[in-house]
Amino acid sequence: MLVRLCLDYVVRAHLMSLKIAPALNAFKDAFNQEIEEKKNAFELEAMNSKLLAEKVDITLPAMPYAQGRVHPVSATMAELSQIMKGLGFAVVQGPEVTTDFYNFTALNIPETHPARQDHDTFYLPKGEQGETRLLRTQTSNVQILAMERFQPPFRIIAPGRVYRCDSDQTHTPQFHQMEGMLIDKNVTFAHLKGTLQYLLSQFFGKEVRLRLRPSYFPFTEPSVEIDVGAEVLGDEGHKISKGTGWLEVLGAGMVHPNVLKHGGIDPTQWQGFAFGCGIERLAMLKYGINDLRLFFESHQSFLKHFGHHPAAR
Ligand code: PHE
Repeated sequence: MLVRLCLDYVVRAHLMSLKIAPALNAFKDAFNQEIEEKKNAFELEAMNSKLLAEKVDITLPAMPYAQGRVHPVSATMAELSQIMKGLGFAVVQGPEVTTDFYNFTALNIPETHPARQDHDTFYLPKGEQGETRLLRTQTSNVQILAMERFQPPFRIIAPGRVYRCDSDQTHTPQFHQMEGMLIDKNVTFAHLKGTLQYLLSQFFGKEVRLRLRPSYFPFTEPSVEIDVGAEVLGDEGHKISKGTGWLEVLGAGMVHPNVLKHGGIDPTQWQGFAFGCGIERLAMLKYGINDLRLFFESHQSFLKHFGHHPAAR
């Protein structure tokens, strides 16, 4: 081993003395440079052939750009909310899964009341405390929640989904309503009428005609149904008109004292009005849509035609 080390040393010294090392270094540099140049040349070639393969033909027509639309139901809810916000109503939301207390009992519809049968309710398995749970059949459940949450005076609207076990050309198991409620001192029926007149004329246009018809809801007293002047066009649906036809669009009335009590509000101090309208019904009338089911089938042609441009909101 020692011999080898010595020999190594001697050879190195010899080479150095012969000045071979600089020559070897020069050779190494030249060799590395050669490799570097070849490598660059290969890389350039690979890049060029890749670019060539990816060439874009700028004379080709542009790819069509499909833009989404705002569904007419969403657009209608947004428009109605905007109008009501202008009157100082706050937009609130309530749960779609609720109990029979919020959907019925607190709204003055006791267990044995026939109105419960009218609603074709989707019932759910009972809750942890044995309460009867269901999908809300009307946005009126928000009336009770609003009274629990806000101190009077207040005014709210609550647009949202509701559910009834029903399906044909004029009924779908899920549809949309907008609830409105105002609680204050010295509220009269005239305030209700003026508010709805304003809402519907802003939505349909100044020429819309309203008709208030006495009606019955357990949670309002007195109650009315509100019709708008519309022409019935058979299969083509309905059209707002100056003609003689009428179409019901809204239920409304003065809040029943029992409902105020359930909401923890003293009916001797406060009064209020409430109303509820079907969103699809209003949209069908305004846009001339003739079949309720079209709203839920989501055909591209329907959405393209009746949907709103997103920027138009
Ligand atoms: N909730 C009622 C319905 O679904 C409408 C309504 C709301 C009526 C508020 C009066 C007051 O038909």
